Amino acid sequence: MDHPDTLAVHAGRADFAALGVHTPPLDLSSTYPLPDVELGGDSYEALATGGVPIDGGSHVYARLWNPTVARFEEALAALEHADAAVAFASGMAALTAAVLSHTTSVGKPHVVAVRPLYGGSDHLLSTGLLGTEVSFCTPSEVGATVRANTGLVVVETPANPTLELVDIADVVEQAGAVPVLVDNTFATPVLQRPLDHGAALSLHSATKYLGGHGDVVGGVIACSHESAAALRRVRAITGGILHPLGAYLLHRGLPTLPLRMRAQQESAAAIARHLVANDAVSEVFYPGLHGDPGGLLARQQHGTGAMVAIRLRGGYEAAARVAASTGLFTHAVSLGGVDSLIQHPAALTHRPVAADARPDADILRLSIGLEHVDDLIADLENALATTTAARARTTA
Ligand SMILES: Cc1ncc(COP(=O)(O)O)c(C=O)c1O
Repeated sequence: MDHPDTLAVHAGRADFAALGVHTPPLDLSSTYPLPDVELGGDSYEALATGGVPIDGGSHVYARLWNPTVARFEEALAALEHADAAVAFASGMAALTAAVLSHTTSVGKPHVVAVRPLYGGSDHLLSTGLLGTEVSFCTPSEVGATVRANTGLVVVETPANPTLELVDIADVVEQAGAVPVLVDNTFATPVLQRPLDHGAALSLHSATKYLGGHGDVVGGVIACSHESAAALRRVRAITGGILHPLGAYLLHRGLPTLPLRMRAQQESAAAIARHLVANDAVSEVFYPGLHGDPGGLLARQQHGTGAMVAIRLRGGYEAAARVAASTGLFTHAVSLGGVDSLIQHPAALTHRPVAADARPDADILRLSIGLEHVDDLIADLENALATTTAARARTTA
């Protein structure tokens, strides 16, 4: 019953029999009737401080609680082996709540962040907008970078865009008593469950694989009951809750998540191997392509994922040309959907990152979708040929 494939289909559906429904009801109410003034007030108090609905009470107001959102949260928590999950209007709203609830609001304003991170996460932390001070470091420097006033360690694995794997258990050990947040967007709970390795929080841009169809922006964090209460409190106060329609679509997408991941991963692995032999490409970034250093694929991430990055021999010009020359791959940000995307991290997702930490300008990131792998390879070969031809013309 706890196989991810089975959980993906059944989790978050415990109340269906009592409700007499077979698919998740979509509750779009912005407000809810109150039984009486006293219970209404008690319900408000419970929800606004991060609690869950009280017996006989009301959901009060949709910024505080929504049953469609709660069902998606329950499903995601089960998939992540977590007590609870809290869903937000975007991955960035989720990260904001995680930072606020674990740092400044508990008097520990220092954050240790392992680079590379998604550019938006790097940007949020480096601006200090949330009143935090951040120290960026490498995975092995976490222990030396943690201070008495560190409230959170942030790490992303596989890292965006070059797909390095970070040893979660090792970072957790170095962090000691400081909670570790792992951005699990690229791996999804199908391939990796950070809480099993000691992380306190597993964050997703649900916009990506969880949704899978490019039609939802959302974020979610799986964690303990205690952290969930702290996150819900921030969410209630700042107003970052996921819209119920987004939750409905995300919950609808979960049953196919394991299948999608496996199919997209199979194509990604084939594409990565194929691109190694392409003349226009000087380096292919894909987990497992050069074995399993540190044994992380065996121990931590059960699969290589569906993201690939490539370094072009012709530098920025070649990268720009390839991004503009694909047909099936849409040139667009985001990832994890059923259709393939290509993008230039230095120009887009990682543009706000400090110049010395930004990905190289000759790197492109590919999100592999569900199209037939032969068609995807042909599309990439065609686009890459524009640079080989260009290089040949320059040399001639
Ligand atoms: C790894 C990762 N984390 C977080 C985010 C932010 O999520 P969102 O765009 O849903 O706010 C993104 C977005 O691209 C991402 O790729």
